[in-house]
Amino acid sequence: MKSLQYISIRTQAVMIAVCLVTCCSSLKIGETCGSENKCDAGLKCDTCAANGNTRPRCIRLQPINPTSKMKGLPFNRYSWLTTHNSFALAGARSATGSYLVAPMNQEDTVTSQLNNGVRGFMLDMYDFQNEVWLCHSAQSQCYKFTAFLPAKDVLRDIQAFLEKNPSEIVTIFIEDYVTSSQGLTKVFQDSGLTKYMLPVSRMPKNGEDWPTVDDMVQNNQRLVVFTSKESKESSEGIAYQRRYVVENQYGDGGMKAGSCPNRAESSAMNTKSRSLVLVNYFREAPNRTQSCADNSVPLVNMINTCQEAAGKRWPNFIAVDYYMRNDGGGAPEAVDVANGHLTCGCGNIAYCKGNANFGECDVPPISPPPPAAATPPSPGGNQPASSASCRAANLLQSVGTIMVAITFLTWL
Ligand SMILES: *[C@@H]1O[C@H](CO)[C@@H](O)[C@H](O)[C@H]1NC(C)=O
Repeated sequence: MKSLQYISIRTQAVMIAVCLVTCCSSLKIGETCGSENKCDAGLKCDTCAANGNTRPRCIRLQPINPTSKMKGLPFNRYSWLTTHNSFALAGARSATGSYLVAPMNQEDTVTSQLNNGVRGFMLDMYDFQNEVWLCHSAQSQCYKFTAFLPAKDVLRDIQAFLEKNPSEIVTIFIEDYVTSSQGLTKVFQDSGLTKYMLPVSRMPKNGEDWPTVDDMVQNNQRLVVFTSKESKESSEGIAYQRRYVVENQYGDGGMKAGSCPNRAESSAMNTKSRSLVLVNYFREAPNRTQSCADNSVPLVNMINTCQEAAGKRWPNFIAVDYYMRNDGGGAPEAVDVANGHLTCGCGNIAYCKGNANFGECDVPPISPPPPAAATPPSPGGNQPASSASCRAANLLQSVGTIMVAITFLTWL
């Protein structure tokens, strides 16, 4: 009896504390954030100096789950947020212990990317130290100072995510420099990923629809893997990317506003016998400071341009550097736009009406976010209202904790 009461008091105390903490973090997109107030879940507090935006504000971090509104469509009717060189973590050291002399393209681990809704991963794989490593090259050769980590480390993280999230689908694009016999097969086996792979025999060869996402989930074929090496399709059963995907030029050549040329190795963007469209939008030399500007309005413009170039097909994969950096909606917004068009015929997946006809949309009267200038800073302090309520919540929390402590002590 006594211990039951004890548990109930403890539960109350924990619940009060949890509520106060979570009720406190309630800043919406575009709102000014700082050290003491937090943005809503799925948002991040950041500036974008490259655009002259030095006001810390809540920005998008995660796309809307592509399958959350229109469920069960073919895989090629969705768009997936994709990271370029997903493994090349800024500030990382090589797992060999060496310092790295290599471009860095992202700021969080693949596990963190997965938790933020990234579903496409571009991984450069090389033979190195009798294993397959994620590496950057000089003449197709991996060195200590360009080798990030063994591929199986990252593949195992993907395996753990797929196991924990039985309805999620992940795509891997391998930039393939592996020449060791059955090298890819081995590393996927070692990572426990082989059983999740969608077999090449199930991938459409002539522009047909892909299996539906429901089908892929039911059959537990939730991993799509592409290699850049043609021979691997017959030798190891790993899909040759060019047979299934068209993609635009990567690097600076893919960032010229108004044009969307195909990458040399890819079929023309409007080749309809390839059912998947990939848009690359990242610089030759990754620039962390500049990426928030790149990953915003210019990116959304580019997916519109590429949609035209691809024969009115919206991209299934949108690949960027520093995916978390943006000046408002960013790469998550671009993915939402593509998913709106792809899944429900609306300008953004946020406007899709669940189970409505294609093209029936709920467009809000004012497009988010609300104008940044709605509340001019008041003289003597420009604390947003939420900061005051946050302080009140903190005060209440202290009072609550003291009261619970008193109750507990009295009861003892
Ligand atoms: C990176 O971008 C910033 C902001 O646009 C710019 O000032 C800087 O020169 C760029 N750095 C390089 C190395 O290009």
